Amino acid sequence: MRLTLVFILSLNILSQTIILKPKSYLDVETGELITADIEIKNGVITKIGRNLSNNNAEIISLKDKVLLPGLIDTHVHLIGNNQLNGYESLSESSYLATLYGALNAKKTLLAGFTTVRNVGAANYADVALKTAINRGIVLGPRMYVSGPPLGITGGHCDNNLLPHESSVPNQGIVDSPWEARKKVRTNRKFGADLIKFCATGGVMSKNTDVNAKQFTFEEMKAIVDEAHNHGMKVAAHAHGLEGIKAALNAGVDSIEHASFIDEETILLAIENNAYLSMDIYVSDYILGEGVKKGVLEESLNKERVVGKTQRQNFKKAVKLGANITFGTDAGIFDHGDNGKQFVYMVEWGMSPLEAVQAATVNAAKLIGDESIGRILIGNKADFIGLDQNPLNSINILEEVPFVMKEGKVVKSE
Ligand code: ARG
Repeated sequence: MRLTLVFILSLNILSQTIILKPKSYLDVETGELITADIEIKNGVITKIGRNLSNNNAEIISLKDKVLLPGLIDTHVHLIGNNQLNGYESLSESSYLATLYGALNAKKTLLAGFTTVRNVGAANYADVALKTAINRGIVLGPRMYVSGPPLGITGGHCDNNLLPHESSVPNQGIVDSPWEARKKVRTNRKFGADLIKFCATGGVMSKNTDVNAKQFTFEEMKAIVDEAHNHGMKVAAHAHGLEGIKAALNAGVDSIEHASFIDEETILLAIENNAYLSMDIYVSDYILGEGVKKGVLEESLNKERVVGKTQRQNFKKAVKLGANITFGTDAGIFDHGDNGKQFVYMVEWGMSPLEAVQAATVNAAKLIGDESIGRILIGNKADFIGLDQNPLNSINILEEVPFVMKEGKVVKSE
């Protein structure tokens, strides 16, 4: 009886050994294609080498595929029905928004993004979705989540659509250093992995100025200090230069958007080891689809200036050697279209390898999880398989035919 139990248990463990036999894999640090097989046990890479064999392993033949590490998007909004814009967005409950999150998570994973950072969600719906994914209830990427983003009263992270008598402040609204510290503590308590705050106005929010700094330096310092005390990274939404500078001087780990950054401030970001997450695809989507989708006229006007400037400054940042991560703001456009940004990053100055690094090794460093983003022994078995080397045609990252997350095949065409 005992013996059979041991036997069954050991069979079970052995059956978790997988050997992937691809054409090659891309070393995203060097850009080299390497011919080798990859052995996986319990979701982790255990061996890399030529002609691997193991009698008890499941062999997955991918003879015509080039493997890459699973992709990472460090700026998404999975929660919510992204067909709703402006005032329409007030019409659905958080419960329904969370269920849309499950759909969005699946689309994102099947597009090859095995890890995301979700930067802003109400009611800790992001924590719930992350938990459901980790438990295997919902199919989706590994999530790092922020909970409600911190912001000032009337700022980009507030809800400014309703008049006073029917308005409720967004859950992350704080107006002093101590309120800010308390909110950081609260977000951590309810499961946030990182802190997001709004350091300037935004494009999509009503009655905010993208150039206006939001929060005092003192408040930003309090947020960063409190978050870092708990080992949490801080992402600052910032378009305007003054807000970007203040956030960097306060010690944030990433600037989201960074639209009006100048050369001096790019150098400051490099010196601080901060990442720039510049969503340079989304502008075409907003300006192309915005009118049809009910985006506020005010937002379209802001986007006409922000989008162009952001791309020019992206080019400067690449030239100066900034740390750049791959963040798209998926949720404004359709989930699963994240990969469309690669072509833009190359068009605006990156080599294809740099664009791939932004979505793998750089993103992993920003998140602080180096067990992802590179194909190494001991790392998580997250892979995408492509029909060609993406360094020769970057656009093939828009349609990913093979996806494995932590040793489980989730897509194979
Ligand atoms: N969430 C951002 C905001 O509302 C989107 C900015 C999109 N535009 C851009 N060019 N990246 O400010």
